[in-house]
Amino acid sequence: MAQPTQVTITGAAGQVGYALAFRAAAGELLGPETPIVLRLLDIEPAMPALHGVAMELADGAFPLLTDVVVTSDVDQAFDGTSWALLVGATPRQQGMERGDLLAANATNFGPQGRAIAARAAADVRVLVVGNPCNTNCLIARAHAPEVPDERWFALTRLDENRAKAALATKAGAPVSAVTNMAIWGNHSATQYPDAAHALIDGRPVPEVITDEAWLQGEFITEVQSRGAAIIAARKLSSAGSAAHAIIESVRSIHLGTPAHDWTSLGVVSQGEYNVPEGLVFSYPVRSDGETCTVVSGIDHAETATRLLDATTIELLQERSAVQHLLPR
Ligand code: NAD
Ligand code: LMR
Repeated sequence: MAQPTQVTITGAAGQVGYALAFRAAAGELLGPETPIVLRLLDIEPAMPALHGVAMELADGAFPLLTDVVVTSDVDQAFDGTSWALLVGATPRQQGMERGDLLAANATNFGPQGRAIAARAAADVRVLVVGNPCNTNCLIARAHAPEVPDERWFALTRLDENRAKAALATKAGAPVSAVTNMAIWGNHSATQYPDAAHALIDGRPVPEVITDEAWLQGEFITEVQSRGAAIIAARKLSSAGSAAHAIIESVRSIHLGTPAHDWTSLGVVSQGEYNVPEGLVFSYPVRSDGETCTVVSGIDHAETATRLLDATTIELLQERSAVQHLLPR
């Protein structure tokens, strides 16, 4: 059997972490040929619950799961890890925006960034899920200068999946027919879900869905506010769909994206599409299994440009709000 890959899940006693751990143990994250060690991090008061998660993982008798490490120590959590899935953070409650969580959550991410730089494997990739995920990723990344920009990601695949589902329903098409659906910007109510460049059965969405008012209005606001709608319905934020989006993101990064398609990921901007360098901005991204590249050459209409500007401004404001947490 191959050497196991170390996978860290932070906040593993929480809802998303709980859903994710079992799917990772079953081989859905890294595939049926790759044994894994799960390194589960949570805060000290959550240790009894986290031990319970480990007991259930043992009871799953997963053939690919060679060990489970349960810890509240960040250094131990990231020791030798190749995948750092940073879920651990407080979720928002009804009536809040994700940005309102900055005060509660942002301080988690500097220490975790430093521990990743000090302890993780040389090939580590980091996917930040805890909200507000773009700016939390920016903070962790800033504390780990040794880990290159291209190894940092924030989760916007859930928004992409929501957008695909909405387009498929409107078009009366199977969701598998929807491709090239990009989410631009922040995982927040300012994100721009870009139907203009998405395809249904290889045809541009605006050709298939001719209700332009819906595409420019309800579609965008529904995707932007879907997380809030889930919270209103469940009184808890999304968990199963979030864990699924994490699995799909990791698979896209390490197995690659289909040649004709792309996925949405928050990545460290290198200035693409005039987004200031260093912001963690969601773009359409292609992966060849080694390297992730922002898709270039996409032209935006004026209305889309205004939305891109708005989400960029919000990310700049979030960065200003956490300036005191960034190393000088
Ligand atoms: P939850 O409250 O059920 O679980 C969060 C867990 O994180 C808890 O067990 C908590 O003890 C732990 N935690 C808190 N601070 C920690 C720290 N410093 N280190 C390690 N663990 C810590 O919340 P949840 O529903 O699992 O959501 C987790 C986060 O993911 C929230 O911020 C939520 O908003 C976010 N989220 C993001 C997306 C996305 O698409 N980006 C989707 C769903 C959820
Ligand atoms: C989501 O999009 O479901 C998560 O980010 C949770 C939230 O606060 O909306």
